[in-house]
Amino acid sequence: MPLEILGKMYEKANKEYYAIGQFNFSNLEFLQSALDAAEEMKSPVIVALSTGAIKYGGIKNLVALTSTMADQISAPVALHLDHGATLDDVKMCVDAGFTSVMIDGSHHSLEENIKLTRQAVDYAHANGGITVEAELGRLGGIEDDVNVDERDARLTDPEEAVRFLEESGCDALAVAVGTSHGAYKFKGENAIDFDRIKIIKEKLGIPLVLHGASSVDPESVAQINEYGGKIEGAKGLDAESYKKAIERGINKVNIDTDLRLRWTATMRKLMVEKPGEFDPRKYLGPARDAVKELIKQKMKLLGSAGMA
Ligand code: G3H
Ligand code: 13P
Ligand code: ZN
Repeated sequence: MPLEILGKMYEKANKEYYAIGQFNFSNLEFLQSALDAAEEMKSPVIVALSTGAIKYGGIKNLVALTSTMADQISAPVALHLDHGATLDDVKMCVDAGFTSVMIDGSHHSLEENIKLTRQAVDYAHANGGITVEAELGRLGGIEDDVNVDERDARLTDPEEAVRFLEESGCDALAVAVGTSHGAYKFKGENAIDFDRIKIIKEKLGIPLVLHGASSVDPESVAQINEYGGKIEGAKGLDAESYKKAIERGINKVNIDTDLRLRWTATMRKLMVEKPGEFDPRKYLGPARDAVKELIKQKMKLLGSAGMA
């Protein structure tokens, strides 16, 4: 079916307290993994492009590929801009056929964030009723190769969120509750402020989004290290954390790092075990299958399986 407006997918998820996975991609294979998983699991799916991914693959190519592939399956697919930084990013993606955009003004003052988000909302809503996700508070970790220092990370303030929603008119809100982007999320124990999610949800009622939500699967990390990689001290969310966050009102869970780790683990093993192989399909194919299986597991965990 044609690409679906994310706001439409959210209606049921928000009412029934489940989450839809956002899976980032930059190439054909990751997109196939996500869409095949959605079809097999009868799950709605969000595929997302960062501005870095757009630069890598070309916006026209990536939109054409996504909509052509979505047309061939019955599971609903939304195409989302991840962490748009400027109004121009938003306009470019709305004009290109995205069905959801994120404007991330979290690095600005509250006033500036509201102003920027309001402009994005006005443009996206006027041009096809495209859904807008905003961010309030600030996540730590790696964003577009820039390390957001932990001291600059700031949890979302519920009262500020009420004002932010009223004045910006956003459709969904990314909340900072203790997760961070990348493979190194927690020093020591997982410190997610689950109650903050519940409080914000009760005050706002709109779909809430959890960024930095990869599990940083220990098996993938171990396999990468076993076959010549070097990833140390990586840590992410366990299944229980997903459950608690979703019960309290998270409706979209962003996953990128887990896909990259599983992909890299599969490729590293194959490269070592089959040194004579030089047909890329022989190693890209198995990596694609491994990522698909991972996404299927996530869809079960998030409760979106069977909801298409
Ligand atoms: O939130 C960040 C995403 O993982 C996108 O990462 O900017 O390297 O494509 P990227
Ligand atoms: P991870 O780095 O935990 O996969 O988070 C991805 C993300 O939040 C994309 O917006
Ligand atoms: Zn993010």
